[in-house]
Amino acid sequence: MSQIYCLPERRNVPIQENQTVLEALLANDIPHAHACGGNAYCSTCRVMILEGIESCSAPTAVERSLNKKLEFPVHVRLACQTRVQGDIAIRRMVTDAQDLDIVERQSAEGAVGGKQQVALLMVGVRGDGTLDEDNFYYDLIYILSRYFLLARRVLRPFGGKEQASFGNDLLVKFSLDEGPEPALRAVWAALELQRELEGLNAHLHQLSYSPLRLTMGIHYGIGVVMGMGLGRTQERAQHVVGRLVDEVQRIELAGRKTGSSLLLSESAWELVRDRVVSPRNFNVVFGGDRDRECRVFEVTAVQGEAPVVLAAEEPTESRSLTSRLAGFMKRLGEIRVL
Ligand code: FES
Repeated sequence: MSQIYCLPERRNVPIQENQTVLEALLANDIPHAHACGGNAYCSTCRVMILEGIESCSAPTAVERSLNKKLEFPVHVRLACQTRVQGDIAIRRMVTDAQDLDIVERQSAEGAVGGKQQVALLMVGVRGDGTLDEDNFYYDLIYILSRYFLLARRVLRPFGGKEQASFGNDLLVKFSLDEGPEPALRAVWAALELQRELEGLNAHLHQLSYSPLRLTMGIHYGIGVVMGMGLGRTQERAQHVVGRLVDEVQRIELAGRKTGSSLLLSESAWELVRDRVVSPRNFNVVFGGDRDRECRVFEVTAVQGEAPVVLAAEEPTESRSLTSRLAGFMKRLGEIRVL
């Protein structure tokens, strides 16, 4: 008779050939979740196969259909559909109410995430000194509001999807979902933002504020993406998490130390090297369990035609202030009625 080594219980459970993994667990008093009663509908019986995937039966048609919706990797199986011919080790994946919350959300919204080829652009903005020490809080809010409006308007036509903002910093993802050449689009977006910032700085100068400066890093590779959103009904954006994010932050930080506005990792640079001007390169240490040194490349210009994938928003300055004020008053009236 085969055995299932089961985590988190750290127990060996016997399983007969005609039993499913779910039946074996329940017969041995392991309270494994099975909300739909073993009908391959709820996915609460999911387990991760840690060892012995070759001893597991092939997924049934109903399991394959659920897998397609949730995009499980091959080593995540439904215990209610899996039989074994040999010993296996598993980790039960729904063991408390929070695990169930995750399953419920995935069932409502689809795939849990996966891996994706992406270019990540990290944009940091700084003042001459420290932005909040040099400005009153209202000035700081005004300056950053103008900057973020500009950044979003410039990055969008290149297919940049905002992943997160950490304080003054923005993390933006470019992937094949929006169009070809994500690394090249990230470079164009970064240099275009740099160029457009000059206009904003001229405006800030008129108001007696000091100019803003950018430091940007671009990295390219296979990232782990997962759906994130605040509410069950909110559309979930696919966010990159993990090593790639950590490394692009380090590249951006290296730009601050070397005085470079835009640095590319070697993997990103290899994809665009024929199209960019790259006067300098440096070594950067990527942290982790084993520190490793990587080459980064400064990029100051890009040649060729801009790879725009989405229509640009009409710049607000191209509409007259009078027509904008009329629209503003109309919306204000609607808000007050509500
Ligand atoms: S018990 Fe519902 S899918 Fe297995």
